[in-house]
Amino acid sequence: MHLVELLFVSSLSVATFALDNGLMRVPPMGWLAWERYRCDIDCDHDPKNCISENLFMDMADRLSEDGWRELGYVYVNIDDCWSSMKRDDNGRLQADPKRFPGGIHKLARYMHDRGLKLGIYGDMGTHTCGGYPGTTLDKIELDAQTFADWEVDMFKFDGCYSNATEQEQGYPLMSKALNATGRPIGYSCSWPAYQGGLPPKVNYTQLGEICNLWRNYGDIQDSWDSVLKIINWFFENQNVLVSAAGPGKWNDPDMLIAGDFGLSMEQSRSQMAIWAMMAAPLFMSNDLRTINSGARSILQNKIAISINQDPMGIPGRSILKEKSGIDVYWRPLSKNASALVFFSRRNDMPTDTRLPSANSTTPQAATRSMMSSRRRP
Ligand SMILES: *[C@@H]1O[C@H](CO)[C@@H](O)[C@H](O)[C@H]1NC(C)=O
Ligand SMILES: *[C@@H]1O[C@H](CO)[C@@H](O)[C@H](O)[C@H]1NC(C)=O
Ligand SMILES: *[C@@H]1O[C@H](CO)[C@@H](O)[C@H](O)[C@H]1NC(C)=O
Ligand SMILES: *[C@@H]1O[C@H](CO)[C@@H](O)[C@H](O)[C@H]1NC(C)=O
Ligand SMILES: *[C@@H]1O[C@H](CO)[C@@H](O)[C@H](O)[C@H]1NC(C)=O
Repeated sequence: MHLVELLFVSSLSVATFALDNGLMRVPPMGWLAWERYRCDIDCDHDPKNCISENLFMDMADRLSEDGWRELGYVYVNIDDCWSSMKRDDNGRLQADPKRFPGGIHKLARYMHDRGLKLGIYGDMGTHTCGGYPGTTLDKIELDAQTFADWEVDMFKFDGCYSNATEQEQGYPLMSKALNATGRPIGYSCSWPAYQGGLPPKVNYTQLGEICNLWRNYGDIQDSWDSVLKIINWFFENQNVLVSAAGPGKWNDPDMLIAGDFGLSMEQSRSQMAIWAMMAAPLFMSNDLRTINSGARSILQNKIAISINQDPMGIPGRSILKEKSGIDVYWRPLSKNASALVFFSRRNDMPTDTRLPSANSTTPQAATRSMMSSRRRP
């Protein structure tokens, strides 16, 4: 019981040091192109599935018409490979004119007209990871202003083609430059993923002051293997990562891949449950035009979403690893509630499992007694 109160108090004191742009007090939710669509720019060959304004408008239509927006999925985010290979005559980034004939500003308007938000991608370095023009230190203010002029709502700053010294300067500079535009723009930093994700190289106190979210670890791929690797890394390092997160500042274990090709329904459900426990940003990367009803109902699960969006913003922890292959995760929630997830690593058969103190009177009491018996000083 005291543990719950203690965590509550500490989250309040930490929250005051979050990036002061008023955004993302709960983990952001939406759709992001990368895992499903990558750099697919061959629109002649595959007009429906290429990185173009039509793809993003289609996803916006689905988000606003199929019940996603009301659940909180409001960001539509462009990833790499959107831009022209050349900056314009004034040195500004510009969208590829063939694939985005209307331009990014018009696309942002399209989102705003539907109660949605537009996110865009850039890279701290000479080139983006896909080889498009990057944002070197001298271009940071110009690019931040360009995104603000386009009325973009979120910006993911990748880190290919730069060294540690440039990143150390560039990520805080971009935070200042975004602020200076006067437009609230959610700021996603890939910086820690390029520093190995852990202290002493990563300073999570600083990250929380300059970014709204950050990618700590490698990219997700469309496989259960990839999901498990991410889960393992985040919980092996939970003592560092849990305290790094809070309202306005989130660890980002990367996209939700339910509705793609690599996960079974049970595996999709498991990813959703663990992402909810981690207080992870919920960015789906799938095709919302053709998603099946099973994947849709997992991603639209109101209980999972309300756990993910808990206003206290304290990520969950792994509290138990049973020899039988069952992990237990616990997350404290507001109003004295908490969430438990039982996660099976078994691949032989279904299994029956129960809490060690299942004879206690309430689930909450059971959780508490488990926590106090397992907690470390
Ligand atoms: C910029 O930073 C100041 C001071 O932290 C804050 O009050 C303001 O809301 C920020 N503005 C934007 C647009 O992020
Ligand atoms: C990082 O890159 C900059 C610009 O190319 C260069 O001047 C600097 O020496 C590099 N620093 C390191 C530590 O490699
Ligand atoms: C980490 O960043 C914070 C805030 O910017 C700073 O006060 C602190 O000295 C940094 N810690 C280290 C070990 O550099
Ligand atoms: C939470 O639980 C404590 C102890 O049982 C109680 O004193 C407090 O009023 C509860 N708070 C809420 C918001 O229910
Ligand atoms: C559960 O039952 C066992 C055996 O009867 C008892 O030793 C234990 O104290 C009980 N635990 C709780 C939390 O009531």
